[in-house]
Amino acid sequence: MNIYGASGHGKVIIDLLHSRMLEIHQVLDDNPVITGIYDYPVVHEYTPEVLRRKTIVAIGDNKTRKKVVDNFPGTFYRGVSHATAVVDRTVEIGEGTVIMANAAVNADTIIGSHCILNTGCIVEHDCVLGNFAHISPGAVLAGGVKVGEGSHIGIGALVIPGKKIGKWCTIGAGAVIIEDVPDHSTVVGNPGKIIKILDKENE
Ligand SMILES: CC(C)(COP(=O)(O)OP(=O)(O)OC[C@H]1O[C@@H](n2cnc3c(N)ncnc32)[C@H](O)[C@@H]1OP(=O)(O)O)[C@@H](O)C(=O)NCCC(=O)NCCS
Repeated sequence: MNIYGASGHGKVIIDLLHSRMLEIHQVLDDNPVITGIYDYPVVHEYTPEVLRRKTIVAIGDNKTRKKVVDNFPGTFYRGVSHATAVVDRTVEIGEGTVIMANAAVNADTIIGSHCILNTGCIVEHDCVLGNFAHISPGAVLAGGVKVGEGSHIGIGALVIPGKKIGKWCTIGAGAVIIEDVPDHSTVVGNPGKIIKILDKENE
């Protein structure tokens, strides 16, 4: 398989793939200055070798990851979890999604494509995560929470049961979400308060 993205997030994905003993064939990055990551040389174009194998896009920023995915001419690897993650057998995981070390995902949760469930996050039973969502390290979604496409839940944030976070929202580090959050909002604090709602054009 290939990894597209040779930054810090790429390093964490390499660790995940090593934990599953999966072979990494090519690492790709748009930045010509980056020539290697660990022992892997980095290529900067869609070589036949890149297009022949399935790829995981290793870019932490949700909007950038979506842009890269939308323009990538190749195919994507299935969702994959770190060997130390605990993922219930009923969980559905979309392609390109990564579940990092020590994360826990409980029964009947549905996770879209190209999501990041970061180190040590907890996603409880019956949650639904849209494509390109990112649950940061240590964040906790209680049962039945919905997270819309492209939304980013900050480190250590908490969402109480059944709440709905819209599309392309940003939930600040340590926020406690006790009400539904409309699309494109930024929310911080305990209890969470909206500090910004972007126009759809700025999505
Ligand atoms: C929420 C966040 C995105 C806001 O960033 P921003 O839009 O640049 O906002 P600012 O830093 O200008 O802060 C705006 C206000 O919100 C407050 N604020 C920002 N983040 C906050 C947080 N996490 N908790 C409480 N208040 C916060 C600021 O103090 C400021 O308050 P003021 O207007 O009274 O001075 C950012 O602070 C944050 O928490 N990011 C999460 C990062 C993260 O978890 N990354 C994970 C990587 S794996």
